[in-house]
Amino acid sequence: MVRDKGCGEIRESDIGKNLTLCGWVFRRRDHGGLIFIDLRDRSGVLQVVFSPDASGDLHGSAHDLRNEYVIAVSGEIRKRPAGTENPNLPTGNFEMYVNKIDILNRSSPLPFTIEDAADASENLRLKYRYLDLRRPEMQENFIIRHRATKVIRDYLYEKGFLEVETPMLTKSTPEGARDYLVPSRMNPGHFYALPQSPQLFKQILMVAGFEKYFQIVKCFRDEDLRADRQPEFTQVDLEMSFVDKKDVIETIEGMMQLLFKKVLDVELEIPFTSLGFNESMERFGNDKPDLRFGLELKEMADLAGKSTFKAFLDAINSGGRVKAINGKGMAVLSRKEIDMLTEEAQSFGAKGLAWMKVKNGFESPIAKFFPDEILRLMAQRLEADEGDLMLFVADKEEIVHDVLSRLRIELGKRLNLIKPGYRFLWVTDFPLLEWNDEEGRFEAMHHPFTSPMDDDIDKMLAGDINNKELLHSLRAKAYDIILNGYEIGGGSIRIHRRDVQRKLFEILGITEEEARTKFGFLLDALEYGAPPHGGIALGFDRLVMVMVGASSIRDVIAFPKTQKAFCLMSGSPATVDPKQLRDLYIKLNLPEV
Ligand code: AMO
Ligand code: AMP
Repeated sequence: MVRDKGCGEIRESDIGKNLTLCGWVFRRRDHGGLIFIDLRDRSGVLQVVFSPDASGDLHGSAHDLRNEYVIAVSGEIRKRPAGTENPNLPTGNFEMYVNKIDILNRSSPLPFTIEDAADASENLRLKYRYLDLRRPEMQENFIIRHRATKVIRDYLYEKGFLEVETPMLTKSTPEGARDYLVPSRMNPGHFYALPQSPQLFKQILMVAGFEKYFQIVKCFRDEDLRADRQPEFTQVDLEMSFVDKKDVIETIEGMMQLLFKKVLDVELEIPFTSLGFNESMERFGNDKPDLRFGLELKEMADLAGKSTFKAFLDAINSGGRVKAINGKGMAVLSRKEIDMLTEEAQSFGAKGLAWMKVKNGFESPIAKFFPDEILRLMAQRLEADEGDLMLFVADKEEIVHDVLSRLRIELGKRLNLIKPGYRFLWVTDFPLLEWNDEEGRFEAMHHPFTSPMDDDIDKMLAGDINNKELLHSLRAKAYDIILNGYEIGGGSIRIHRRDVQRKLFEILGITEEEARTKFGFLLDALEYGAPPHGGIALGFDRLVMVMVGASSIRDVIAFPKTQKAFCLMSGSPATVDPKQLRDLYIKLNLPEV
């Protein structure tokens, strides 16, 4: 071995030993005579000291060291002199007195120091990702991710799940995003799609009799990116036969409990809270609420209807909603600050943001449109006291919920209401179908293989496919798992009956022929004794992101892409050699720029 142990592993018992360590020069302090180097490797940092009495060569080499040079040093481990200890470092009581140094490699001047990399622009960090990844905080993220992977694998092996790989060169999976396509040279004009998820294959593994499958697997979706979305991401994907919702939920709760205990030493209480989709929408305005704080949305239409305020009456009369939240203690905001809040609401899609301060009565430009009694009842419902600010949005239900749910999070942050910790939540009882206004047809809310609830199956089979009200009322055996306001997973019990699947396709406007070309192989498989089955997929990057307290999944993915799906380090996607295109019979037809 070149080295005896890791820099961060030096302990009391090493005092007096002569050891060799390797690593990078993290910081260098030259006190004329004494030269201090903080030597860093994956295990941590140790102070190494070059004394002025050291031989000229040694001292000279130490003098030449620069940040991120790679060195091997040998010397005696000593206790640091009293008063010079660093209580913030596990090795802060020790240092090495160097008697030999080897410079293993030099480094060019850095685009940013490793220590201050967090302050560098993200684009620069992504271009020099290998430097960004040298940061101890980043390495910690990946150590946690690694440990999480192991705990999950061990747990699922223990529970009898088989780990099976499924193809990456495959057919489109209906998860609702655009596909990444790969041309086939052997089959000119034909394309593989990279999987948006292994959904179809895992169902077929159930037909194949595998009973319990899992995979930690890359999925690919060409969609607009956000802080919690990447074009390629990882799912912990599982599927089980002869189960109901309860079995899947208990499997995941057990997994989370073990995961948080083993990796973070956090005890989770199970079962997790569960909320129906409708209740979640009504109380929080979305289906992935952060339950670490209140600030719930309150119905106001019944009271607002007794006012003469036009914006509210218009919304109500056109079938919309009026709802409000209570900005605790926010009556201190100035007019200008409220205007900024209004602009924020407008950027979320609201027409406006009506407000009333509870301050010596009610202070608001629109208070005059409301009878006193109504003002009092509104405040009462919002539990608004002296000093609070009531905020209202009136619009179509979709907009009211979207705007207020985002405002809720914004205010939760601003008012410091979000308690630290981990709050899990199951959202269940989703509608089976969602109306797509643009296309004028129903879509599956999850995916088209999701089973309706038992009570709704007969209703659906017997019902008219044009009966909108009936279709809206159908509920799915689907469930999402939410952690601190992030959707970290979703799944369902699947349809295993051909007649139910056929009827659902009919409702979705998928013709028999279309179904055959798109997922004929699954439909065929369902004809040959498919067991009842169901499963779930966890968004592993999002889960790890919340576990490490990062605000973007880019911080837990080694080589992530930018908002424009570009890898700044490797420079992909890139143009290709014309010959490669010719081999694939592909001609480009690019838009003029
Ligand atoms: P779904 O589409 O809900 O379900 O995906 C499961 C989970 O994957 C995560 N996720 C993402 N994470 C990062 N970047 C993305 N672009 C991205 N897209 C999704 C989310 C999400 O909850 N086949 C079904 C699962 C099933 O029914 O068993 C599926 O893929 O955390
Ligand atoms: P106006 O009558 O348009 O001047 O608006 C008076 C107040 O009501 C302003 O504070 C607007 O931001 C707010 N407002 C206007 N439309 C709406 C709406 N649809 N929902 C909530 N507040 C609104």
